[in-house]
Amino acid sequence: MTDILNHLLTRRSVSAKHLKEPGPSPEQLETILTAGARVPDHGKMAPFYFITFQGDERNNVGRFLKEAYENENPGTPPAKLDLEAERFLRSPLIVAVVSRIRNGKHPQWEQILTAGAACMNICHAAHALGFKANWLTEWYAYNPHFKKSLGLDEARDNVAGFIYIGTPDKEKDERERPDLNDIWTDWSPDCDIKKGEGLYGKDKYGLPRKGFDLSD
Ligand SMILES: Cc1cc2nc3c(=O)[nH]c(=O)nc-3n(C[C@H](O)[C@H](O)[C@H](O)COP(=O)(O)O)c2cc1C
Repeated sequence: MTDILNHLLTRRSVSAKHLKEPGPSPEQLETILTAGARVPDHGKMAPFYFITFQGDERNNVGRFLKEAYENENPGTPPAKLDLEAERFLRSPLIVAVVSRIRNGKHPQWEQILTAGAACMNICHAAHALGFKANWLTEWYAYNPHFKKSLGLDEARDNVAGFIYIGTPDKEKDERERPDLNDIWTDWSPDCDIKKGEGLYGKDKYGLPRKGFDLSD
């Protein structure tokens, strides 16, 4: 099996809190972001941008996390706010991948998918360089106060992911994956398309809330 296929078939995230120093060097970070920017992109829109958090700046951004959390949860005890302020301290490097809807005729949905592809390429590149990654959103990706403090545009910018990157001090066990028999149909006329209904028993929750308007 080729290295790349082996990687695709075995890659696992590692939790942010288990991603320690060393993080990528400046050259390695540039390689990771170059891979992140090299994604299928209908209409060549580059519908994403990256913000990295490293070193002491991970501490400095804590003030904004704290303010945002308090804004969303008034009356939160100071100890809990201090904990929230430390989120970016879990790993040596965090890459925020921001999905930016650009002007043009190509659908918003496709632009958002491209930002997701950038996230996945960043994870793959980090792993290929010997690091591990964890693609998270958590509450602050959706917090208007925090997004504003990072300078995100309310109408067109959304956090596709905060990609935490570092060297693992603990690996994760394999986790369950969808059975292809539940989600794969080799088409023929009148076939029954398998749609993964009932996978993982989550139907009881209903559809999630719509995050934003995907109309063209
Ligand atoms: C868009 C997106 C957001 C995610 N946000 C979170 C999150 O906030 N918290 C979390 O525990 N996992 C989150 N995950 C899941 C993890 O990144 C990861 O998929 C999972 O832990 C294991 O996947 P893997 O072993 O295939 O990498 C998110 C995944 C995606 C694609």
